[in-house]
Amino acid sequence: MTTSEGMGEGQSRIADLRARKSKSKSGGGLARIKSQHERGKLTARERIDELLDEGSFVEIDALVEHRCRDFGMEKNVIPGDGVVTGHGTIDGRMVHCFAQDFTVYGGSLGEMHGLKICKILDLAVKTGTPVIGLNDSGGARIQEGVASLGSYAEIFFRNVRASGVVPQISVIMGPCAGGAVYSPAITDFVVMVDGTSHMFITGPEVIKTVTNEDVTFDDLGGASTHAQRSGVTHFVAPSDQEALHLVRDLVNRIPSNNLESAPFSDVGDPADRECARLEDIVPDDPAIPYDMLEVIEEVVDKGSFLEVQSDFAMNLIVGFARMAGESVGIVANQPKVLAGCLDIDGSVKGARFVRFCDAFGIPLITFTDVPGFLPGANQEWGGIIRHGAKLLYAYAEATVPKLTVITRKAYGGAYDVMSSKHIRGDYNVAWPTARLAVMGASGAVQILHRNRIQSAGNPEQERERLIEEYEDAFANPYQAAALGFIDDIIEPAKTREKLILALKTNLVKKEEPPKRRHGNPPL
Ligand code: HXC
Repeated sequence: MTTSEGMGEGQSRIADLRARKSKSKSGGGLARIKSQHERGKLTARERIDELLDEGSFVEIDALVEHRCRDFGMEKNVIPGDGVVTGHGTIDGRMVHCFAQDFTVYGGSLGEMHGLKICKILDLAVKTGTPVIGLNDSGGARIQEGVASLGSYAEIFFRNVRASGVVPQISVIMGPCAGGAVYSPAITDFVVMVDGTSHMFITGPEVIKTVTNEDVTFDDLGGASTHAQRSGVTHFVAPSDQEALHLVRDLVNRIPSNNLESAPFSDVGDPADRECARLEDIVPDDPAIPYDMLEVIEEVVDKGSFLEVQSDFAMNLIVGFARMAGESVGIVANQPKVLAGCLDIDGSVKGARFVRFCDAFGIPLITFTDVPGFLPGANQEWGGIIRHGAKLLYAYAEATVPKLTVITRKAYGGAYDVMSSKHIRGDYNVAWPTARLAVMGASGAVQILHRNRIQSAGNPEQERERLIEEYEDAFANPYQAAALGFIDDIIEPAKTREKLILALKTNLVKKEEPPKRRHGNPPL
């Protein structure tokens, strides 16, 4: 059989296929693509090209169409249905990904659009590969009603099932509103693009109507808000390109699934390099802060530290680094912020990071300098008891190698929490500058000796004498070493060498958690 243009049936069908694929590729058309570019945003396909190794993308479901017959939708069918899905590689390792196409119905999620994402999540779990979602969407597709909500819930369900099995990363590159935020929220890492991405449950107009508050899009749900105030996002990038490059870096530090190891990458930094700078980093006066980031950067492989949630709860530092090429998770108190106290936000931030590392077999290195939990009525009323317990629970539950260095203070309950020997730290050491005690000297003396100080001839002199006496007893690591609560007291310059040795020793560690359906952390 031949067509009117004289083509054979086969050729005509091939031409038809090409036309459909080309329609799928051009999304919502040139005008909308232009508008996307004018806002400083890449298109869905450009984003995928930037994310993956060149030429590695294999598209799936380019010909999926929506099934909506209402609101004239039947006349506007765009193959692919507003989301580009498939797999490709990042530095040679396979990942699955989807990118919502804002030029098609505002990237809104209808039934089939959602089911395409579900297929990608299923494939990621089946193949044990990370999944990366590039979100740019007006949310539930209004025309499709509950069919759209159903697909959202199918995605949420899969996000939960995939949690702890394959890493899940969400990049927010446009709007992400209403219940749609809950898929990124369940995933392991959220990256937002500054200036073009927004996340919120209810927008400024609804808030104005309900609570009469005036708030802009940016203040409500922009990248800075979520990086500094809510802690929803883990990273902020200044552009689409930089966000996607950051995801590549992140993927290189984590395993493809919970049964594999993270990629090894040795930059040639000697394992026995002395960290001479650390000899003088801790000030003599325990009230004077120093920068724990300097300690981390000195100890880990040169230039390998990637901080996570760097602008949120800055009193606790978390991030990925490498030690002699092995990927590790770092958790550290930051004496420069709130004196390094653990507060609600810091505890929650730390707990989530510890749980991620444990789920994916990434060893943890903890640097402790903590005067305790942050005092204050707001912290108590906000639930520091249950939130602080999250970090304790996460550390106690973690079975990955856990190495701890106490640089200065390890006071009170916070001593126990910060990966102490008692909650099964594998290698716990202290610098000679460490002070392990129930609390700091002045507080302790005040509680123990109030009457004695008041009745002394010279109360101030007596207080100072008692503080000195207390410091002689507790402001050092020797009582803890004598009890075996720390394995060694090490010279700061040897920290890197000792940690790498301990890491290598403990990489083979096997520890089975007790059999149970699951624990019940104080969520
Ligand atoms: C269908 C939508 C849409 C939606 C946008 N569009 N959102 N189509 N369903 N949810 C379409 C618009 O009609 C328009 O089509 C195109 O996308 C671009 O939208 P604009 O408004 O022109 O773009 P912009 O000015 O940039 O504003 C983007 C926006 C705005 C902020 C996302 O469109 C908006 O507020 N949309 C509604 C957001 C929303 O309330 N969604 C539901 C949230 S609740 P044309 O043809 O003109 O290009 C939700 C529940 C999820 O999602 C529940 C999960 C459990």
